[in-house]
Amino acid sequence: MKRVLLTGATGYIGSHVAVELTMAGYDVIGVDNFSNSTPKVLGGIEKIIGKRIDFMEVDCTDYAAFEKVFEKYPDIEAAIHFAAYKAVGESVAKPVMYYRNNLDSLVNLIELMTLKGKGANIVFSSSATVYGQPADDELPIRESTPLQPATSPYGRTKQIAEEILQDCVKAYPNLNATALRYFNPIGAHPTAHIGELPNGVPNNLVPFITQTAAGIRECLSVFGNDYNTPDGSCIRDYIYVVDLAKAHVKAVEKMLREGIRWNVFNLGTGKGLSVLELVNAFIKATGVQLNYKIAGRRQGDVEQCWADPAKANRELGWSADTPIEEVLLSAWRWQESLK
Ligand code: UFG
Repeated sequence: MKRVLLTGATGYIGSHVAVELTMAGYDVIGVDNFSNSTPKVLGGIEKIIGKRIDFMEVDCTDYAAFEKVFEKYPDIEAAIHFAAYKAVGESVAKPVMYYRNNLDSLVNLIELMTLKGKGANIVFSSSATVYGQPADDELPIRESTPLQPATSPYGRTKQIAEEILQDCVKAYPNLNATALRYFNPIGAHPTAHIGELPNGVPNNLVPFITQTAAGIRECLSVFGNDYNTPDGSCIRDYIYVVDLAKAHVKAVEKMLREGIRWNVFNLGTGKGLSVLELVNAFIKATGVQLNYKIAGRRQGDVEQCWADPAKANRELGWSADTPIEEVLLSAWRWQESLK
């Protein structure tokens, strides 16, 4: 069995990928420093796959500690790098913290993979944020759509990380890298054993919706209904986290099979949904009422953004097609399980 290292393994997306990789027959070694997750997630993963994944508590910015993972597991052939801070607003207030954490961890990973890995295949957790606000005639967004200057230090860490990987692929003959640009991941595992665990007041729409429906928050604010969209609210491409996780398995398989030096994929459904459409889909799917009001625009929001996932569909043999009602129901079941 091939060994895959997951950094940020107990995070929202990392935990779902740990499940899918194990079910696809890979040996996983997970690492995390629990800066935005808890050890309980390991129990959630275990309930789904029936065994404990190999795991080490490590901060990937600590080279010496990270090196021990490679000493203990010399059979690592591929890594999926999730470990990163991800709050846009926080990154504006604390850019140094974002650059240090998000970039040091990547540079350490590249060095360790190229020097100590059995193979040096890295899948990088990137984001649609690298595209900024594309012009109307550039929607849907393709991998060839020109990148715009990032609108936050968080976004810039994703752009810089992709550039670092490209430089390193040119310099180190044994390194291959694939960047996966996520659109908006939502939902939880259908078993409700793992899901998103936002720290404090959620920034993201779906956790805010489920917490409001559960009575934890009083009212959802819909940030703007005066955008140039059919109902005036912003449009995004919401992708089910389990579909997203399966794309990682395909990306790892492709790298190990074909040894493509550098590759980029958009991971989305190809369909845009407005905030109001999503709210209505949630009410329809769950039958639960939701308090919401129209509020002012949130600073820094892009108006509309959805993927052209054709490259991933074609080259990975993958598509994200779980119906939105099923996805929102999974998010609601997860919220209910947290009681
Ligand atoms: N929204 C609301 N009310 C809320 C929260 C969000 O109306 O309480 C709206 C936002 O204005 C936006 C949409 O819901 O129109 C989605 O917002 P999210 O915060 O869930 O997601 P974003 O698209 O803003 O952000 C996501 C990721 C970021 C990434 C960004 C761009 O969370 O990490 O996409 O790729 F930077």
